[in-house]
Amino acid sequence: MKQEKIDNLVEEAINIKPNSYSPYSNFRVGAAIEMNDGELFTGVNIENVSFGATNCAERSAIFTAISQGYQPKTIKAIAVSGDTDEFLPPCSICRQVMVEFCEPETPVYLTRKDGKVLETSVEGLVPFAFSTMDM
Ligand code: THU
Repeated sequence: MKQEKIDNLVEEAINIKPNSYSPYSNFRVGAAIEMNDGELFTGVNIENVSFGATNCAERSAIFTAISQGYQPKTIKAIAVSGDTDEFLPPCSICRQVMVEFCEPETPVYLTRKDGKVLETSVEGLVPFAFSTMDM
């Protein structure tokens, strides 16, 4: 992906982060996804007093796109932003959701608070993934 597009996607993930509803962890996360047609969707982590009901930022963004009518495998790239010293890795539930809705080679941009960006991919995050192909 063009550097300008990556920078923009990362910026979207950073900018949405203040909307995070995270009173229990105080750990704000923002995510942004670009679709193959250029549309952008964002999401934040949304926590719940019943902790297991929490939704991560990545899933919020992906589920918003699917709710808007996008089909699986139409996501071009994902960016994640937290206020972490190290690159923020998506949780394993989000990784499995990425497997369902992305291609293995879909780039995932992880960020850290000093502004550095690490590019990985869905396959990089989930090697040997269980997918619809295995059903
Ligand atoms: N969280 C995310 O939203 N995305 C990640 O990649 C890691 C974790 C959220 C879930 C919870 O609200 C908080 O961060 C602490 O785990």
